[in-house]
Amino acid sequence: MSTTSIDSLLHEIRRFAPDPAFSAAAVAQPELYDRARADRLGFWAEQARALDWTTPFTETLDWSNPPVARWFGDGALNVAYNCLDRHVEAGNGDRVAIHWEGEPGDSRSITYAELTREVKKAANVLAGLGVGQGDRVAIYLPLIPEAVIAMLAVARLGAIHSVIFGGFSAESIRARVEDADAKLVITADGGWRKGKVFPLKHAVDTALAAAETSVEHVLVVRRGENDVEWDDARDLWWHEQMASASEEHEAQGFEAENPLFILYTSGTTGKPKGILHTSGGYLTQAAYTHRAVFDLKPETDVYWCTADVGWITGHSYVVYGPLANGATQVLYEGTPETPHPGRWWEIIEKYKVSIFYTAPTAIRSFMKAGREIPLAHDLSSLRLLGSVGEPINPEAWVWYREIIGGGTTPIVDTWWQTETGAIMISALPGVTTTKPGSAQVPIPGISVDVLDEDGSHVGLDSGGLLVVTEPWPSMLRGIWGDPERFAETYWSKFADAPNGPLYFAGDGAHLDVDGDVWLLGRVDDVMNVSGHRLSTMEIESALVSHPIVAEAAVVGASDETTGQAVVAYVILRSKKAKSVTAAEASQMLRAHVAEQIGAIARPREVFIVTELPKTRSGKIMRRLLRDIAEGREIGDTTTLTDTTVVTVIRETSR
Ligand code: WT7
Repeated sequence: MSTTSIDSLLHEIRRFAPDPAFSAAAVAQPELYDRARADRLGFWAEQARALDWTTPFTETLDWSNPPVARWFGDGALNVAYNCLDRHVEAGNGDRVAIHWEGEPGDSRSITYAELTREVKKAANVLAGLGVGQGDRVAIYLPLIPEAVIAMLAVARLGAIHSVIFGGFSAESIRARVEDADAKLVITADGGWRKGKVFPLKHAVDTALAAAETSVEHVLVVRRGENDVEWDDARDLWWHEQMASASEEHEAQGFEAENPLFILYTSGTTGKPKGILHTSGGYLTQAAYTHRAVFDLKPETDVYWCTADVGWITGHSYVVYGPLANGATQVLYEGTPETPHPGRWWEIIEKYKVSIFYTAPTAIRSFMKAGREIPLAHDLSSLRLLGSVGEPINPEAWVWYREIIGGGTTPIVDTWWQTETGAIMISALPGVTTTKPGSAQVPIPGISVDVLDEDGSHVGLDSGGLLVVTEPWPSMLRGIWGDPERFAETYWSKFADAPNGPLYFAGDGAHLDVDGDVWLLGRVDDVMNVSGHRLSTMEIESALVSHPIVAEAAVVGASDETTGQAVVAYVILRSKKAKSVTAAEASQMLRAHVAEQIGAIARPREVFIVTELPKTRSGKIMRRLLRDIAEGREIGDTTTLTDTTVVTVIRETSR
């Protein structure tokens, strides 16, 4: 058995062909693939021309100095103008841009005309505080309309935003504000989460007290109405500044490669990387993918992506993609289970959401809570569902389609990363016959491959490392302040390919007999058991396919005989598992995995637990589980949502 191939032993045979009526009316038609294949750069130029340019570009791509890419380099545009003013000028000012729901039940619907006016005022406020092209502005806000307004106001001025997720700590703020040398911080007094106000400004105060930076002002939105400390020389209320700001602001064009934002991503080790994105190429691909992958009909659809703007999904598929396309969308401040477990479904019913985009971790937690909760709501407005963030287990995929999608909606499983800026691999609804668990095919205009360690194409029915073989418009342009780490992390592994370096995504992938891509998780989540490389994800899927299992996490723990052994942590479904003991469940599940995948994958241990350690973005922290499985001191837990989980798991698994 080759040690460079990743064995994919889980066979998923269900297929879902597109509905002919959906296909006939779909935004993306099959010929999109042909057009992109025939003239890739011409295809991207055509997508870019769907935007409004103050100076049209003549050069599509300059890749003469890889890994530095310049897309539409001699063109100029204003990103905020493309998301706002142009819709108003086209007569769509009365269309709702954002239906916002606050967690406590307050709500606001904001039209494109109103959003444009607010952003113009905010741009004037920021300009008055000295923010101009290239300056960095840190944004640390709850999911309220002001978060979107602030991002667009920064973009309108040609400045660079760095959004910091509202769940991050003062220490994370300090590190990010320092790294980017931010001039201004925009925050709120507090935000709502799980029925309570959590303080935000307080965290900013703590961060700035410790930071060696040049922050001149802190602009504070009033949301939580909690008490805050005030520094008269530094702090300003957003509503006071906005009240006196002019509504006139003419958007100026900035060159296509003008930086738009920095977004920090943790990576597996080391300090967070400030992923840098620029304007023209980023907006082109965010808008195009949002249209084509979500089949957007801006006149009639109500779109909802549940991500926070603190993550890349919120940047590309809450702010830039949907607004560039003139979509109507829902924005919800709080958690899915506040004040009751059906809150999301209630919102879908209320606004008649037609396109819904969320993460597998959310889907699995709804599966765990039981289908009665969504089924108590009218979800018949939904016509398309999306998934992002990690591989979706086939069982969760099928549940999503059956229970949320009424057994009819197409599902798009979209693979991409903070670094790629926008969707790269996904089915096209109405075109692709979908396979639960597989992201399937690169979208038109994107080329990927799966390679072995030596850089050779692995061929069909084999696994290896996922690479992107051609530059793409929304690719990261660098790591803020660290060009060497940029070149080293992403472009050095396959640097000698004939047409320039290939982008190494850090994910394992399997190509099936049809050439469809199955993502197998980060490369460091791949185990080696007796010389067989196994995906943690496939074993998790096998576990979750058992009726008593709600959620599973698998890690490779070092083992004297096999190199690594499979160790599983499993949460049971309370109802289905009520008559089995933990020992019986664990025995049954070991046998079940052996049966589903093969004896090689049978877990050495299956621990029944009540919770799994997750990062704030919902990813299972396998590293911690590996520490526990191997009986080590537990490593860094700063990004964990609930640190007590680790202690509980350790106690139950000893
Ligand atoms: C990593 C990127 C893309 C926005 C959210 C996460 C994993 C993401 C999928 C998917 C399998 C996926 C990959 C990737 N991932 N989407 N549909 N199927 N894996 O952004 O935090 O930059 O994480 O998430 O491992 O490398 P991110």
